[in-house]
Amino acid sequence: MTHHIHRPKIALVGSGQIGGNLALLLGQKQLGDIFLLDIPDLEGIAKGKALDIAQMTPIQDFDVKLAGTSRWEDVRGADVVVITAGRPRKPGMSRDELLDVNVKIMKDVAANVKTYCPDAFTVVISNPLDAMVYAFYKITGFGHHQVVGMAGVLDSGRFRYFVAEKLGVSVEDVNAFVLGGHGDDMVPIVPYCSVGGIPLAQLMKQEEIDQIVDRTRKAGGEIVALYKTGSAYYSPAAAAVQMVESYLRDKKRVLPAAAWLQGEYGLKEMFVGVPVIIGAHGIERVLQVELSAADQEALKKSAARVKELCGEVDKRLA
Ligand code: NAD
Ligand code: LAC
Repeated sequence: MTHHIHRPKIALVGSGQIGGNLALLLGQKQLGDIFLLDIPDLEGIAKGKALDIAQMTPIQDFDVKLAGTSRWEDVRGADVVVITAGRPRKPGMSRDELLDVNVKIMKDVAANVKTYCPDAFTVVISNPLDAMVYAFYKITGFGHHQVVGMAGVLDSGRFRYFVAEKLGVSVEDVNAFVLGGHGDDMVPIVPYCSVGGIPLAQLMKQEEIDQIVDRTRKAGGEIVALYKTGSAYYSPAAAAVQMVESYLRDKKRVLPAAAWLQGEYGLKEMFVGVPVIIGAHGIERVLQVELSAADQEALKKSAARVKELCGEVDKRLA
């Protein structure tokens, strides 16, 4: 008699800074067996990170298998795919400037995911995020429930951290969400930010709130300027893990994420950051919430920039 358990298969496409941290965090949560994939020239890095984390499993008591590869055959049938394949930006660059080089990479990656992992729930991280998840969706033809972009959980986490730091409170008690594109025009929805259920505006002066909104929008660039060689990777990895965990454990988390819109918020035929429910069926619902006129306008402006980038993607996919 054999008890068959199906431990999910998680393919991490891109084994760089974020990919390595994804493997570590997913492993520690024992969310599935982890396959780090990269290009042949960097297969050693993928294999090395897998082996390095595997040697940590007895020390931190987590039982998952890890492997590194450059062969797509090895990730055939993955239940979850997380895509970080792509260049990160350097100081002074906007995320949008990555479009040309990263859409070329996404063409290769998306075609392979379509062939080898047709049933996977896919979380795209590569930048410019909203355009890259759009490119993936267009190339694969996957259902829109099984494709999502990670940015809102990261950007909201940054906003929440800045609020907690300013107020001297636990990060656990700060709730917030940032919507729109993953660019400097992202939209922290201040009226929905609460601290222990108390609206933020009752605890902080408007100019302090404005400073935090501004710092959140530029938080990525702040880290790029410090690192000089790339962009943030610990917090983006943690953000994607929260989304993958909600899918694999059917947690029905309400999270901000780049999801396919079909008229919600007056937007359609695009991916942009909105509140969604993530469960075993993937993106199970897009939540349409009341927004102030100013926030609706800011969302529209942010989405317009995303639309322009998607137009650039369409030209490169034609
Ligand atoms: P990195 O350079 O450390 O890792 C990227 C990896 O992708 C490299 O190892 C590279 O070899 C690999 N790769 C390239 N082409 C590939 C292909 N065809 N198949 C498989 N692997 C391939 O970069 P990083 O810091 O991990 O960032 C990855 C991406 O995520 C960048 O585009 C960055 O801008 C983006 N990012 C997005 C967010 C977000 O919130 N959405 C946050 C941070 C970074
Ligand atoms: C960046 C990530 C955070 O490019 O998107 O800074």
